[in-house]
Formats: sequence, structure tokens, C-alpha cells
Amino acid sequence: MLNVAVVGATGAVGRELLGFLAASPLPIGRIVPIASPRSAGRKLSVGGSVVVEPVVALDEADFGEIDVAFLTAGAEVSRQYGPGIAAAGCLVIDNSSAFRGRRDVPLPVPEVNPEVLARRPDTGIVANPNCSTIQLVRAIAPLHQAAGLRRMTVATYQAASGGGLRGLAELADVSRAILAEPTACPGPGRFGPSLAFDLIPQIGPVNEDGIAHEEQKIRQESRRILGVPDLQVSATAVRVAVFHCHSEAVLAEFGRPLTPAEAEAALATAPGIQLYPAGSQKPYPTPRLVELSGERRRDVHVGRVRADPDNPYALWLWVVADNLWVGAAFNALRIFQTGIGQDWWKLPA
Ligand SMILES: NC(=O)c1ccc[n+]([C@@H]2O[C@H](COP(=O)([O-])OP(=O)(O)OC[C@H]3O[C@@H](n4cnc5c(N)ncnc54)[C@H](OP(=O)(O)O)[C@@H]3O)[C@@H](O)[C@H]2O)c1
Repeated sequence: MLNVAVVGATGAVGRELLGFLAASPLPIGRIVPIASPRSAGRKLSVGGSVVVEPVVALDEADFGEIDVAFLTAGAEVSRQYGPGIAAAGCLVIDNSSAFRGRRDVPLPVPEVNPEVLARRPDTGIVANPNCSTIQLVRAIAPLHQAAGLRRMTVATYQAASGGGLRGLAELADVSRAILAEPTACPGPGRFGPSLAFDLIPQIGPVNEDGIAHEEQKIRQESRRILGVPDLQVSATAVRVAVFHCHSEAVLAEFGRPLTPAEAEAALATAPGIQLYPAGSQKPYPTPRLVELSGERRRDVHVGRVRADPDNPYALWLWVVADNLWVGAAFNALRIFQTGIGQDWWKLPA
């Protein structure tokens, strides 16, 4: 059996990961929840029942007997603790941006580039890609395989849960305050300007060219995961007043003309894709629909597949997925599952 730890177990992603691990048929022994000293001793429940040990403060945690540590406590914590945990022989699956740019750290989306997990990395660290990128590449990979992707123009509509538990609480509190007092003008918060009843057309700081950090991640990470280093990718990342699930409008251009019917046929048979065909009763997913879709929150939901009227090489897609599941916890679990399948750990036969 493999002992696992979740660092950031009390957070938005950590809680979902605990739920997956507790319910998983994988050979898991102990599940050790780790967080800041503020949470030490807390008993966490998943699905209404206590399933794990009390929370341990990160500085008190002993990784000597842990086989896998999921880090989901922010990039600063990952940078400070990740290499030491890996040096103790414990595989690190990191949810932050801390190691994603390193060539010696795999950046896998197991449905798209499982080959990067063929062997356990010497660094002992695997990076979970950015949440917006994971759903984008999962939706686009079957079309890339069919017609060779050349360019993507993406606009994201990202939910408050991308800002963690604090982001969710702030959206709820400020929305209530504005409903009570419609002319209220709340001050800055977790997302910069107030998000309630609004949207914010920039996520993270911008570089000298005016490109935001989130937009850079989508560009760099999708190139690497799809294996197209010169892929043209241009994104506008927008935070919207939605609690859960990121949406994306994607204009994708291919090496040969691709009809919507061909694209829908490729998507219909792709694993982990829920297609909403044109002309059907439900031609598109919405964030709320996906949030309430039960186990299909593991899937990437794609609708409104349509031609660009001026370019037979290009198609539009509407892509929705749960950022906490598809964009974080579920992808991390799939990395762990793939590592087990590749015999990264010695398990009794
Ligand atoms: N939210 C998403 O959609 C999403 C998607 C992909 C990746 N990620 C990444 O996942 C990570 C966590 O995001 P989140 O949304 O789950 O954030 P969150 O809800 O704010 O949770 C943060 C977690 O980190 C813990 N933590 C904070 N400082 C710590 C410290 N010094 N030592 C130990 N634990 C500490 C917190 O513990 P306490 O409760 O004790 O403070 C909490 O468990 C981030 O790196 C984020 O970029 C998030």
C-alpha cells in the first residue's frame, strides 16, 4: 500500500483531492492531511464522514514514510518545501506553477501526453499544468490529431473557485452585500477589483508586452503538452462572477480544412469528452450545468462546434470544465494512477 499526503488539505483543491483519494480503488494506505499551523489538529470530513487523520502542520510533517505528496498550498510553499520532500524519496505531484517551466519536471495531462510519465522523473517532481490549459488541451487534442493544430485564439471565463476558498467566500459575501445595498462599491480583494456582479479582464500581473501571467501560462504550457513548440497561441484570461467551472471560447486553426461534422465525430469518441452536438436539445454546456453534473465533473464539456465563416481551416469551440476537478485534483489523481501503472513504486504482486 502507498502512503499519501496532501499538503493544502484544507483548501479548495486539497479537499477535492482528499475526496478522490478516500474513494479511490488505488492501493492507498494512510492519507495524511497537511496544512498550515492554523489548521493543525483539525479533523476533516469528506462526504460527511471523517476519513483521514487529523491535520498536521507542514513543519511538523514527516515525509519519511510517505510515498506520494500532493502539494496544493501555493507556489511559495512548493518552492520552499517541494525539493526537500522529493529528496526524502517521496514523489511530489505539485499543483502550483513553481516547477512547470522546468524541463526536468514532466508536465502531464494523461489523456494527451502520457508518454512524459513513462518513467519516474529523476527530480522526484511532477508538475500539474495550469487549470485553464488542462481543459483546453483535453478538448483540442482529438482535433489536433485529426488535422494538425496551427493556431489557437482563446478567451477564458474563469470562476471564483480558481481563487481558492477565499475567492469563493469573497464572491458570496460581496454579492450578498450588493444585493442588500445596490450602490455599494466594495474595495479591492482576492481578485484585485471586486468580482461580484462583474468581470475582470486580467488575471495576474502583466509583462512588459501587456500579457497577463495566466495568458502566458496557457501559451507556454499548451505548446509543451501538445508537443508543438511553435504553436501560435494568443489568450485573453477573464475572471467572471461564477462560483465554479471555467469556460473558454476557442478559435482553433488547423493544417487542413476541418468541418464541424468531422470535428464533432472526433470529439464524440474521445475519452473524457462530453460533446453537446449542434442541433441537439442541449447544444452547449454552462458552468452551472457542469458543476451539477455529478461524476461528469471529471470530463471536459464541449459545445457550439462551428465553422469560422471566413476560414475553412478554423473552427470555434465552447469548452467548460470544473477547474477544481479537471484543472487540478482529478488530473493529479490521474498522474498518480499512471505512475502506479508504470511501476514507479514497488508494490506486492
Ligand atoms: N483553485 C483552483 O482552481 C486551482 C486549480 C489549479 C491549481 N491550483 C493551485 O492549487 C494550489 C491551492 O489552491 P486552492 O485554490 O486550493 O487554495 P486555497 O483554497 O487558498 O487553499 C490553500 C491551502 O494551502 C494551505 N497553506 C497555505 N499556506 C500554507 C503554509 N505556509 N504551509 C502549509 N499549508 C499552507 C492552506 O492551509 P490553511 O487552511 O491551514 O491555511 C490551504 O489548505 C495553488 O497553488 C493554486 O495555484 C488551484
